[in-house]
Amino acid sequence: MECENKPANAEFSVSCDRRKSARPPEPCAIVIFGASGDLTARKLIPAFFDLFKIDRLPDDFIIVGASRSPLNDDTFRARLTDKHQGEPGDDDKWQSFLERCFYVPLDYDKAADYVTLRQRLGALDKTYNTAGNLVFYLAIPPGIYPLVSRHLGEAGMSRESAGGGWVRIVVEKPFGRDLASARELNHTMHESFSEEQIFRIDHYLAKETVQNVLMLRFANTLFEPLWNRNYIEYVGILAAEKLGVEHRAGYYEDSGVIRDMFQNHMMQLLALTAMEAPSVFEAPRVHEEKVKVFRSIKPFTEARPAENLILGQYGAGKIDNAAAAAYRQEPGVDPGSNTPTFAMLRLFIDNWRWRGVPFYIASGKRLAEKKTKIVVQFKAIPHYMFRYLLGDEIPANRLILGIYPREEIKLSFQAKLPGTQLCMQTVKMDFQYQNRAHTLDAYSRSLLDCINGDHMLFWGQDGVEQTWKYLDPILSSCSQYGGEGRRLNFYEPRSWGPDESLAWMRRILNV
Ligand SMILES: NC(=O)c1ccc[n+]([C@@H]2O[C@H](COP(=O)([O-])OP(=O)(O)OC[C@H]3O[C@@H](n4cnc5c(N)ncnc54)[C@H](OP(=O)(O)O)[C@@H]3O)[C@@H](O)[C@H]2O)c1
Repeated sequence: MECENKPANAEFSVSCDRRKSARPPEPCAIVIFGASGDLTARKLIPAFFDLFKIDRLPDDFIIVGASRSPLNDDTFRARLTDKHQGEPGDDDKWQSFLERCFYVPLDYDKAADYVTLRQRLGALDKTYNTAGNLVFYLAIPPGIYPLVSRHLGEAGMSRESAGGGWVRIVVEKPFGRDLASARELNHTMHESFSEEQIFRIDHYLAKETVQNVLMLRFANTLFEPLWNRNYIEYVGILAAEKLGVEHRAGYYEDSGVIRDMFQNHMMQLLALTAMEAPSVFEAPRVHEEKVKVFRSIKPFTEARPAENLILGQYGAGKIDNAAAAAYRQEPGVDPGSNTPTFAMLRLFIDNWRWRGVPFYIASGKRLAEKKTKIVVQFKAIPHYMFRYLLGDEIPANRLILGIYPREEIKLSFQAKLPGTQLCMQTVKMDFQYQNRAHTLDAYSRSLLDCINGDHMLFWGQDGVEQTWKYLDPILSSCSQYGGEGRRLNFYEPRSWGPDESLAWMRRILNV
């Protein structure tokens, strides 16, 4: 099978997923609830437009925006155009794309509005031949997911139509705010939709390097025999953001870093790094292996929490010589807020492969750089025969899977420095994705997979519930820390987090 992205001068073999290349996406209507919002303008429409530009959307597709704002097709299109950051030469394509965008005003709790939506979709289906296939995208505040899901069921839009059209629903994070609410949300959604129809999106999973973790581990002989407690000292996972909460304080105050980053993105990176090889590369088998990792995480205990959890919140300071507000001073934030904007967690996976290996996971806002990576630190060699010549220290091998800003793989090892003298140096083998062919943005890829009915890049219900089960005690620990005001450590803006975590951040995450 020939690869569409195959570089002209590829020296080695390239093989592609035969199922995907062979199958064009099926016609469909995409309904975005919350179409007047931030996510739609910043992520969804640009992602759909990118797919449209490279002919990856079905020939027969439409996008229908639905939200309370009093818009019509024309004003919706004008609004999309206002926010559209086009590239030179895109204008004609953008106009053709807009012709496929429609709008239905809808009050999320009004049953009659869903009937109107159904009728409009029926009429559009006749004109645009969308074959009755529907993707519902919930780009609305999580509190109203159950409401919309129920109304779709009651309006008869959640089940496959007599004509055979399929129906799918995409749910944005957060999937609940703890185990109890996640279970309740799953239960409510299952009243109208089957698990097979639900796509819980985590765009991190669609990033090239994230997808590559499994290929690196399981398509090479080299790494897997070493990928265990016998050879690995520790694993570090970092997702650092430079920005503060910006305009999303309302959401963040209620969520904090554990709900915003750990329950979803960080846990997925952990699972990909730690899971066993599935028997085949199919979504249900991959999901099963990830869930086994989540089940094996040693439960968090209150004993010695300082060794396992460091929480922080950004304070006031200066950024580029201008005053920068503390988190507590941000608009919409409670001035006494104890919401953590930084966390560093040390956890252990209690299974044969990982027993005793610490996993350090850190994420925070307003840190020194925007950076995401996985660091795999191998153990030092058992015997150092050069010690009399070169001294005592020899750095152990380290593998870095860079996710942002550079999608890259770097392996460090020791080599002789060329010359007559015996000198050793650490060198790096370096693979950079940006040198390769065009890659799709993570949202575009996830949306395309949803249209293709592929669950690989989405969360299953089991995974969501298992991760909350592990994180619930940490969340209650956060509130206790905050309440006492003792354990929430403040940090300078554009630093690498609170002083308490700095040594870990430097040694383990190499910041
Ligand atoms: N924005 C992001 O970067 C981002 C990233 C990851 C996940 N998410 C998730 O994606 C979803 C949408 O995010 P967003 O940032 O686009 O949200 P948003 O802008 O706050 O809200 C989206 C739309 O929902 C409607 N809405 C807002 N508050 C409402 C309320 N209390 N009751 C009923 N309707 C309300 C509004 O439309 P109308 O008033 O016109 O109905 C609004 O335009 C959320 O679940 C969020 O957690 C967002």
